[in-house]
Parts: sequence; structure tokens; C-alpha cells
Amino acid sequence: MGRRISIISGKGGVGKTTVAANLSAALAKLGKKVVVIDADVAMANLALFFGLQSAPITLQDVLRGEAEIYDAMYEGPNGLIIVPSGLSLQEYRRVNPEKMEEVLRGLENEFDYVFLDAPAGIEDNTMAAMAAASEAIFVVTPDKASIADAIKAKLSAERVGVKPYGVIINMVRGIPGEPSEDDVKNIMELAVLGSVPEDDEVRRTLLLKKPSPVVVRRPDSPAAKAFMEIASRIAGVQMKQEPKKDFLTVIKTIFKSVFKKK
Ligand SMILES: Nc1ncnc2c1ncn2[C@@H]1O[C@H](COP(=O)(O)OP(=O)(O)OP(=O)(O)O)[C@@H](O)[C@H]1O
Ligand SMILES: [Mg+2]
Repeated sequence: MGRRISIISGKGGVGKTTVAANLSAALAKLGKKVVVIDADVAMANLALFFGLQSAPITLQDVLRGEAEIYDAMYEGPNGLIIVPSGLSLQEYRRVNPEKMEEVLRGLENEFDYVFLDAPAGIEDNTMAAMAAASEAIFVVTPDKASIADAIKAKLSAERVGVKPYGVIINMVRGIPGEPSEDDVKNIMELAVLGSVPEDDEVRRTLLLKKPSPVVVRRPDSPAAKAFMEIASRIAGVQMKQEPKKDFLTVIKTIFKSVFKKK
């Protein structure tokens, strides 16, 4: 039996879609069966993270009762399944997000993880996406506004019986005054699943002709490594340790940098 987890934030623009795309791609890379669904039906953009903006059938068609959820599934990297939402306003107008829970019911029998990329805020659309999952991962950026909004979102989740699973701190820059993982854990009263650094490689995803999440495109980038670590923690898989450089390589590196300075 798989887990149905929605990705929630409270504040907009903190990286929910980025986290949904990368976490699901990372878990697929670890061999898990994963589906990621764009439950942000009004401001859909998960499709853009995978180059699926021209997908002929989307979650909107499913929510209108004009297609089955399986018709709106597209295969991404490492067997990851993506369910995009349509980007046009016209498509959105006739959609009923209240049906979300109904159309996704039973998916956890076929997948290890069902991720829902939720809209920001705590309005009806967000609540529909939240309530369609049984657990929630909260995304915050290391600032007071985002954390305050996430606390409201967490309370709203609990009110509809959704279990807060953990929080991911995104776009961490390490500047003085930024709340630490411990601070976030204490303020939100929730386990921190990990921190993801601010990384230009993430931002580049939406600038590429053929986009794909950093965990696929640039596995050696700092953000990709952080996402892989979080995914491993979620899946309970031990991450391979970086091979230690041998003594000679270390000595050579030190000497090189010393001589360069002179
Ligand atoms: N770790 C990161 N480093 C650098 N840029 C990032 C990072 N995470 C997200 N971004 C960038 O921040 C912007 C917003 O990200 P994203 O769309 O994932 O946020 P969101 O919470 O889903 O927004 P919305 O509330 O509008 O749905 C994007 O341009 C994305 O590339
Ligand atoms: Mg989003």
C-alpha cells in the first residue's frame, strides 16, 4: 500500500512544484513506483517542469468526468508517472476540484508514492488537494513569512484529517539570521525532512527547451544531492557515501592551492 502525500506551503512561490517534481523523480530513481499529480488546477505548471505542456489529456479532463486518470498519465524519467493539469484558463473554468479525492482514489494500491502538487494558500482548491491525500509535506523558505503561513496550512491540514509528515526548507542560502533546521522544527513542531540550497541549476529548469528536474539533469548539483538525500530518508534507503579521496590526492590538492597563491 503506497502513500498519498500532498506538497503544501501556505505562501506561494516557495518551491512546491520544484519539490514535487524533484522528490518524485528522486524516488523513481531509487526504484520506487511514483506518480506526481498537478493538483494546482487553477495555476497549473507541473507540466512545464517535464516539457509536457502539450499533453492532450490532463487532470482537468478527468475532473470533468471526460477521461480516466490513466488516460492522463505520461511517463517521465526512470519510469516516473506524471499527471499534468491543463494550462489554459478555458479548461480550468469547467473543472470541479472537489472531485479530486474521488478520481485519485485507489492509486496508492498501484504506486509506492502518490504526490500531489498543491496550490498556495488555504482556499478551496488547496483544501481539495490537501484532502485528497492522507499526509502532507510542507515547503518553507527560511523566513518568518513563509513559516508563519506554513503553520496556518498545517493547522488547516490537521483540521481535515491530513497528517503532517514533515517540512522541507527550500532555497537555503546560509546567510546570517536564517532560521536553522532546529528553529523550523521547534516553531512548526514538525520533523525537518531536509534542506535544499538555493541553486541556479534549479532555476534553469524552466528556462530549458527540454526541461527535466535537477535530480535527473544535474545529479551532481547541490540541490539535486539534497533532494536525493531527502528522498532516501523518506524511502528509508541508505545513501551511498561519497568515496573518500585517497591521501595522495588530498595532499596534491593542498599543495596545488598553496602554490597557486604564490
Ligand atoms: N532550491 C532552489 N534554488 C533556486 N531556485 C529555486 C529553488 N526552488 C525553487 N526555485 C525557483 O523558484 C521559483 C518558484 O518555484 P515553484 O514554482 O516550484 O514554487 P511554487 O511554490 O510551486 O509556486 P506557486 O505557489 O506559484 O505554485 C521557480 O522559478 C523555481 O525555479
Ligand atoms: Mg506550484
